[in-house]
Amino acid sequence: AIRKAEPYKIKMVEPIKLIPRKERDKKIKEVGYNQFALKAEDIYIDLLTDSGTGAMSDYQWAGIMMGDESYAGSRNYYNLEKSVQDIIGYKYFVPTHQGRGAENVLFPIMIKEKGQYVLSNMHFDTTKAHVELKGGRAVNLVIEEAFDTETEHPFKGNFDLGKLEGFIKEKGVENCAFIIVTITCNSVGGQPVSMENIKGVKKIADQYGLKVIFDAARFAENAYFIKKREVGYENKQIVDIIREMFSYGDGLTMSAKKDGIVNMGGMIAIKEDEELYTISRSMVVPIEGFPTYGGLTGRDMEALARGLREVVEEDYLESRIGQIEYLGQRLIDAGIPIQRPVGGHAVFVDCKKFCPQIPYNQFPAQAVCVELYKEAGVRAVEIGSFLLGRDPETGEQLESPMELLRLTIPRRVYTYNHMDVVADALIEIWKKRETLKGFEFTYEPEVLRHFTAKLKPI
Ligand code: F0G
Repeated sequence: AIRKAEPYKIKMVEPIKLIPRKERDKKIKEVGYNQFALKAEDIYIDLLTDSGTGAMSDYQWAGIMMGDESYAGSRNYYNLEKSVQDIIGYKYFVPTHQGRGAENVLFPIMIKEKGQYVLSNMHFDTTKAHVELKGGRAVNLVIEEAFDTETEHPFKGNFDLGKLEGFIKEKGVENCAFIIVTITCNSVGGQPVSMENIKGVKKIADQYGLKVIFDAARFAENAYFIKKREVGYENKQIVDIIREMFSYGDGLTMSAKKDGIVNMGGMIAIKEDEELYTISRSMVVPIEGFPTYGGLTGRDMEALARGLREVVEEDYLESRIGQIEYLGQRLIDAGIPIQRPVGGHAVFVDCKKFCPQIPYNQFPAQAVCVELYKEAGVRAVEIGSFLLGRDPETGEQLESPMELLRLTIPRRVYTYNHMDVVADALIEIWKKRETLKGFEFTYEPEVLRHFTAKLKPI
């Protein structure tokens, strides 16, 4: 078979620039060694997130010109409804401005009493925050293998089904609100959840009368992994796998900024529960907007209606995941410890192993992050103890089970050459890893500190 290149060609370019090393050293120092505070124009290759950073197609841009900005009943709403029904297979949907907008509307409806548990393989940070703001308690029940970067497991995003059922039995089903299946599981490395595991979750949910809600940000990437790694799915169409996955749930919240391939957008979708839909539809009005736009313009909805159809194309997914595998393999070949196998949207470097001399409370992954910017103008993001924060009661720094540096790849934006720049830079840092030092705070805000904190090297 011939080697395949990207299934698209470049029609428009956006210049990027590598500023000199001296300036990079100065800029990162000026912002207190916090990459969130850098100006984007001072970054050469931006791997902060895959959220809202994708490149839209000519077909999506053409759709933007067809935006119908009517306050109610925009034609783009109906086009999006058709995409949702065709691809996700759910009857009802409500647009929202992004994923957390959907969580903000749906979760208070689902959490009936203060203190109820919300059970997930792993909550994303904003998802956990919304559960807690609504009076719920977020519980993560992902399999143990997820926390060992060296153990090869095809579905590290899976629920530990024994723990899930054990938890419900121990705490009592009346104290549980609902189940969230995060596909793919971002926080442990963009790791997929198998169809078998999703079915297992559904079986337990049915037994106890709990609803299953997907956090569907990277649903197409999850389906691609099922096709590649799960017996019985190798010859199925991606869209059929997606529909089967979602058939085991009652609804979803989606950040469409990932697999919707749009710069802004989200939704709630409901399989068939008319009552849940009706409440969501009325609650969206004061929070996000009228139900036929929910915080989105007509043109945004059209771009999303089209993005959902593009993301399920197998050539696209093969190229997308292939690029991440390529970057991961280059790092593995150099001996750099990463979460294995690589996930769907990012390579996660295991910085506990990268620089074991730096303790968790001096933020090893942040140290590698800062060095990567200095080395090559690449912006990555720390997912470890810096992000985790302090115990709200004792004020003590919490120790994250993993200290990860996430190299998050935007969709259809960078080429293999960019991946090589990132790999070469990290390999250089790897060679001098013993010289890396930890960080301490010079300014530490109380809430979501990692976005605005300032640090200095120790
Ligand atoms: N759920 C998951 C699994 C996510 O990864 C995100 C966002 C959200 C929900 C919230 O969606 O940003 O549209 O409000 N993740 C981004 C990231 C921010 O960088 O991983 P949102």
